[in-house]
Amino acid sequence: MSEATLSGTRPDGAQPGGGGRSGKSLGENLGEQPGDCALRAEALRFAYPGRAPTFEDISLSIRPREIVCLLGGSGCGKSTLLRVLAGLQAPSSGAISFLGAPLREPSPRSALVFQQASLLPWLTVAGNVGFGLDFARQPAIARAAHAERVQQAIAAVGLAGSERRYPAALSGGMAQRVALARALARQPELLFADEPFSALDAITRAEMQTLLVEVVHQWHSAVLLVTHDIDEAILVADRIVLMGGQPGRIVREWQVDLPHPRLAHAAAIGALRLEILAALLDERAGA
Ligand SMILES: Nc1ncnc2c1ncn2[C@@H]1O[C@H](COP(=O)(O)OP(=O)(O)OP(=O)(O)O)[C@@H](O)[C@H]1O
Ligand SMILES: [Mg+2]
Repeated sequence: MSEATLSGTRPDGAQPGGGGRSGKSLGENLGEQPGDCALRAEALRFAYPGRAPTFEDISLSIRPREIVCLLGGSGCGKSTLLRVLAGLQAPSSGAISFLGAPLREPSPRSALVFQQASLLPWLTVAGNVGFGLDFARQPAIARAAHAERVQQAIAAVGLAGSERRYPAALSGGMAQRVALARALARQPELLFADEPFSALDAITRAEMQTLLVEVVHQWHSAVLLVTHDIDEAILVADRIVLMGGQPGRIVREWQVDLPHPRLAHAAAIGALRLEILAALLDERAGA
């Protein structure tokens, strides 16, 4: 995707929340204006009832249009952190602001994609993508705009012509495209994705990684992508945040400034991969 495309408008012609795509380290983010962050979390701590803290002392900012990958070993608390940042679970302590306002519940200006597509089997592809756009908490949109949003989102994920198909007639990869389209139809400022491609075969997965980067650039959405796949993080992320320890903390992060598509940069990818792997192994050894 070219820089020319990146500086364009969203498919609906709307301008995104503002700010550039280049990320900064956590430290640099402190002291920014509220509008410079899509999401800003400070000193988050979370404990399930009656359990030791899952994570603590987590501060994280995501800039408009930035793709941040949250990487870490199984059980370190990535999904829990994503749910807290999305407003699905309240933190035990700490503060989260989304688009400059305190976050107390899931925002209609964010969207979620999970490992399972979770499509409604009695609705068509178009019905699934449009589902929920009319719900009370969503911004009201006219019927024509609704149809256009659905159509644009389906086309963006490469499923034009499949609008009338039912989930039972879709492959796993197609179902996950529908889930992505359903998220895009909300025109989210921030897309939360929890291992959305981990159930897919290697080729479909690679296609979906490329697609994700293309569509979020086109939609001007920021992304928080949870993954335990180092390669996925390197191929997709503007910034990789490594979570580890018990309780979980952010232990390292890397800015990834390679242009897309990244497979053309094998040497740089290989070097970064080894560095991240070493950090993961260090983390595990220290746990
Ligand atoms: N509802 C729950 N109640 C109590 N403990 C939970 C609950 N959900 C998760 N946990 C625990 O919290 C810790 C973090 O879980 P979480 O699912 O956030 O990790 P994760 O990094 O996403 O793991 P994975 O990579 O396997 O998806 C784990 O020890 C898990 O057992
Ligand atoms: Mg998880």
